[in-house]
Parts: sequence; C-alpha cells; structure tokens
Amino acid sequence: ETPQPADLIVFGGTGDLSMRKLLPALYHADRDGLLSPETRIIAMSRGGLADADFRGKVDAEVRDSVPVDDPGVWRRFLDRLHHVTIDIGGQDPTGWARLTGMLAGHEQRDRVFYLASPPMTFGPFCREVNRAGLVTPASRVVLEKPLGRDLASAQHINDEVGAIFHERQIYRIDHYLGKETVQNLLVLRFANAFLEPIWNSLWIDHVQITVAETVGTPGRRGYYDHAGALRDMVQNHLLQLLCLVAMEPPSRNDRESIRDEKVKVLEALRPITGSEVDRFTVRGQYTAGESGGAKVPGYLDEPDNTAPTEASRQVETFAAIRAEVKNWRWAGVPFYLRTGKRMPYRCSEIVVQFKDVPHSIFPGSAPNRLVLRLQPSEGIQLHIMAKEPGAGEVTLKPVPLGLSFAETFAGRVPDAYERLLLDVLAGNPTLFMRRDEVEAAWRWIDPIRSEWDAQTMPPEPYAAGTPGPAGALDLVARSGRSWHEENPA
Ligand code: BG6
Repeated sequence: ETPQPADLIVFGGTGDLSMRKLLPALYHADRDGLLSPETRIIAMSRGGLADADFRGKVDAEVRDSVPVDDPGVWRRFLDRLHHVTIDIGGQDPTGWARLTGMLAGHEQRDRVFYLASPPMTFGPFCREVNRAGLVTPASRVVLEKPLGRDLASAQHINDEVGAIFHERQIYRIDHYLGKETVQNLLVLRFANAFLEPIWNSLWIDHVQITVAETVGTPGRRGYYDHAGALRDMVQNHLLQLLCLVAMEPPSRNDRESIRDEKVKVLEALRPITGSEVDRFTVRGQYTAGESGGAKVPGYLDEPDNTAPTEASRQVETFAAIRAEVKNWRWAGVPFYLRTGKRMPYRCSEIVVQFKDVPHSIFPGSAPNRLVLRLQPSEGIQLHIMAKEPGAGEVTLKPVPLGLSFAETFAGRVPDAYERLLLDVLAGNPTLFMRRDEVEAAWRWIDPIRSEWDAQTMPPEPYAAGTPGPAGALDLVARSGRSWHEENPA
C-alpha cells in the first residue's frame, strides 16, 4: 500500500521527546519508505526558529543518534521539516496565520496534531487550533502522557479535548504498548493453546511486574517533583502491562475489543484505600550511591536549575504495590508491581509464577516461572525443573527454556514510537488508550496518591544502585514470596 501524504504537526516539536524519540522514529519510517514523499513534519514551539534553523538543529542533534547510511535519504528527511513559532494563549497570531497558510489546500490529507507538551496545554491548544479553523474531518490529535495528575484533571482534559475532537480522532499514547514484546504478550497468550487453560488462580500463584531503570532524574526536577513514580510509571505503563496479562481473550483483534477487555481489568482492580495503603504499597526515594561503577548523588542532590523543595523531599522515585484483580479468573492472586529509578540494572519484565506441584516426590523442587522480558535482551523464558546429570541422589535444578527475539528474528526492531506514529498515520487506535481506560486507571491510583500525600514521613530511602527500600522486599516476603532478581545484561 502506498503511504498517503500527511501533515504531522508536533506541538513541543523542539523539546526533548521530539528530538530523542519522535524525529528519530520518523526518520526510520522515512528510510524504510513508509512516508509519502509529500508528507511534512511541522514543529511548533516558542523558539522563533526559521525552517533552516530547525533543520540545522535536527542535523546537529539527531543525525548522530540514527544510522545515516545514505546522505540523500537524510537530506530528504530534513527537507520535510518546518518550524512555526507559536505562543499558546499569547497575543501574537502570526504563527497561526503561517500554519494556516501552510495547510491551506491540503484539507483532504491526514492531519495529525501531536501534543508533546505538558497536559495543561492540551485543552488550550485544541481550542486555538479549532479557532484557527484547522480541524478537518481527517484530523487526529495525539496526547502524550501523563494525561492529567488525577482523575478530576484527566476528566477535565478529556472534556476539553473532546469538545473539539471526536473520541475516534483522539490517540492517547502509552509508548509501552508500542514495544514489540508487549504486543508479543498478546500473541503468546492468544495464539498458543497451551497457556490459556492454566492462566488463572488455580495454577498461578502470583504475578510480578517490574520496570527497573538505572537512570536517575538529573535535570527533571520540575516535572518529577510533581509526578513521582506512581503518576509517571504505574498509572500508565505498569497498569497497561497488568491489563495485558490479566485480560480475558477478546473475540476479535480490532480497535475496540482489546480495549474493552482492558477496561474490565482496570475496573476489577480491588481499591486500595485508607489504612490498607500502608499495608499494600511502598514508596521510596534514592539517596547517594553507585550506578554503572560511578558515584551518583541522591534525588535531592541531582543537578538541576531549581533547588529541592518540600515536594522534592516527599516525592517517590520508587513504588511497589500489591494489587489484586477481583474477578473469577484472578481472585486471590497477588499482582506485585514495582518500578524505580537508580536500580542496580535496567530490566522490564513480567514474571508469572505458577503454583508448586501438588505433591513433591523429589527434594528441592521449585515452582515454574514464566519470565517475559520486555527490555533489554527481549525474550521469553520458562523456568522448569530438570534433573542434574549424575548417578546417586536426584538433584533438581531450575533451568530456563528460552526464546531470544534477537537470536530468533533477524533485523531491526522498530522503536515503540515508530510503530505508534505509523499507527496514528494509518488511523489505527488499537494500541492507544481510550478515555474510559485512562480514567479507570486514575480512579484506582487516586486513593493511593492521596494517602501518600497525607503522610508527613518522607518516602523510605534506598541507596542508588540497590533494588529499592527494605519495605519492598517485605511486601512480598510477608507471604513467603520473593522478587525475581536476575540481571538480564
Ligand atoms: C517515560 C517516563 O514514560 O518512560 C520516564 O516518563 C521513563 O520517567 C520512561 O524513564 C521509560 O521508558 P523506556 O521505554 O525507556 O522503558
């Protein structure tokens, strides 16, 4: 299918996300022939850049991060780029006039407004774009996370955006859904027959979802002080992963069926409120320690252009939660979620631990674990018990049966943003969050957040380079369980 010409308008187009993720993803798509020759990428920012300045900036800052094997293709990519200076809520209409001029005569094209900007700008941006008369039937709007900071603000933003765009035109991004291994989870579950019969509380003891990062938050205080791990990671990425593990098999792979099933999982999450918050959740903040062999500062001493405040002292860089899905399939099965900055190694994985054998005739048996590694070294491992070779006593050993994506499938794995941007251009919202999904996630997060906010004690400290605070170990150890710890590198 030949790609259709489109106009992609990126608000916040010179920002970090755009330079680090969106432009490289678009370049890759261009290189693979997935963009029409006429497709334009129009960055909007307050920056006051001419097209040539913006192209120069991208040439200087993005070129080295992507493989440019053919300078002609890179040139062609740069030629697609434009810049329009805009000030939302400002008095100067020249930016809008310029954009209107550029888009005039192209009303039939797919038009995508990508809002890579803080959530409070979503409503005002949509109003201004509408006032400028730029919303066509073929328009779509992409909203970056976080969508608000609680249920009320998310509803407000959804109302504001929904006043201008139809729900089917709104693409709420969670880039975890664009990761290859995350999509593979659906294939593993629903294109193989052997797992589904045992995918329930009869056979599964518990599930662990870990997103551990080695990075800290240098230079991000302004955002992070008011987000914290709960809003930044759990409300979206971790809950999305939980949904994909726990959802019922949809009857079709279409835009609504999968999302319908995910919402049901979110609605079945047992609320954690009041005094239970202390029992079932843990928040931590990193102090000075080591990362990658080097000494690193604690959260409060991260270099930044603003000084730490009371909010900085209270914000969590680590969160762990014992969640439960109250339905027929999962009742009684704990879902342990944890995520943190400055962990000992980078690893995102889902671990499904099965129950032990009902009756063991060998000493030393351990329950089976299915490990779905999202990053790095993407793959699937099933830990089974085997007999160590040798005469005499039978000695058991857990050994992995493994699938490594890199070894099994040759070729480049597209970045999550590339996949998702192409889906937006193709008008496929399956891997984007629907309004009810985002709101159901906030509805579950809010009581935890407000309980945390009411606490005067700061989060539990953990040294950078260690696997989180002691409370997180205790959260699983209390029921005789343990976190899966294995450095994938
Ligand atoms: C983002 C968060 O959504 O996800 C960041 O805002 C986090 O804090 C990032 O570092 C992690 O994404 P990935 O793809 O590197 O796992």
